[in-house]
Amino acid sequence: MSQVESPQPQDVAKPLSQSAAFLVLTINDGEDATRTARSVVASTDDLVKNVRIRSAENFFSCNVGIGHRVWDRLTGKPAPKELKPFAEIKGAKHTAVATPGDLLFHLRADNLGLIVEFERMLLEAFGTSVSAVDDVAGFRYFDTRDLLEFVDGTANASGPDAEHDTIVGAEDPAYAGGSYVVTQKYLHDLGDWRSQSTEAQEAIIGRTKFDNVELPDAGDDQQKAHKTLCTIEDEDGEHDILRDNMPFAIPGKGEYGTYFIGYSRHLWVIEKMLERMFVGAPPPLHDRILDFSTAVTGSTFFVPSRQFITDLET
Ligand code: HEM
Repeated sequence: MSQVESPQPQDVAKPLSQSAAFLVLTINDGEDATRTARSVVASTDDLVKNVRIRSAENFFSCNVGIGHRVWDRLTGKPAPKELKPFAEIKGAKHTAVATPGDLLFHLRADNLGLIVEFERMLLEAFGTSVSAVDDVAGFRYFDTRDLLEFVDGTANASGPDAEHDTIVGAEDPAYAGGSYVVTQKYLHDLGDWRSQSTEAQEAIIGRTKFDNVELPDAGDDQQKAHKTLCTIEDEDGEHDILRDNMPFAIPGKGEYGTYFIGYSRHLWVIEKMLERMFVGAPPPLHDRILDFSTAVTGSTFFVPSRQFITDLET
């Protein structure tokens, strides 16, 4: 029997880069806007090549995600099994807000210059067919730390494990090679965070600050650390995701944040993590990281296989 080849994913399971940008767009109303947007999305690979060839020594990658609202309009196909709009999660104290987003461009590079050049060409090609609703440029902070000064990304899998955690397989054959992605922009109250003792901060994250060692999990009814709330286990074992969080900042405006991006083979896994963080496990013991970090955006996309994107035009 001949082996059926799985479609090639976009650059989902890549190592952390030095720079990144998260460009979120909505597609404007009308058939013209849809046609233009479809054609630009389909030709993303050509734009990527234009940029790559001019700086061959630098890493550059671009992942395109499509949101539920425009899936049918843009692709003319039934949506991936689990794809739905990001649903607001209201905890007793904190809310994971849902904000608009039809297209996500997750850009990663060693050099922010390449990202800016790509975005300029991309937005020129889209013209008036889209509106930019958010555009965040992230940078790599010391020792891969976030702006709360903890090493971020340690529990991520790499290599074949990362593919297994993030890439859809036989459970949705039409969308094999794709990945669900959730983004949230968090703003930190750094003054308040920095006034906490190191021990208090470590208890909130669940790891030591200096050397990144995991702390023991709290008991069932106790306040749990961030890393415990985000560990999802059931009879099938642990369900992992791939995070590529980036710090971002505009110090002159007092703006310091973490752009959360999580790729997953199953959307429900990220949804479960968010529910445990915002509602608490058990309720109302929410993730204390939220007392110092406010989610100001929240969107869900599907990043289909490379071929699916290229075929959109035909
Ligand atoms: C772990 C930071 C939001 C999922 C961690 C760790 C840090 C961190 C420092 C421990 C080191 C590591 O394993 O990477 C943050 C910050 C956030 C944020 C600063 C935003 C303010 C989120 C969100 C999710 C999430 C929204 C999921 C919906 C995870 C997971 C782990 C983790 C799955 C690994 C847990 C394990 O040890 O298995 N995060 N995080 N994080 N975080 Fe977050």
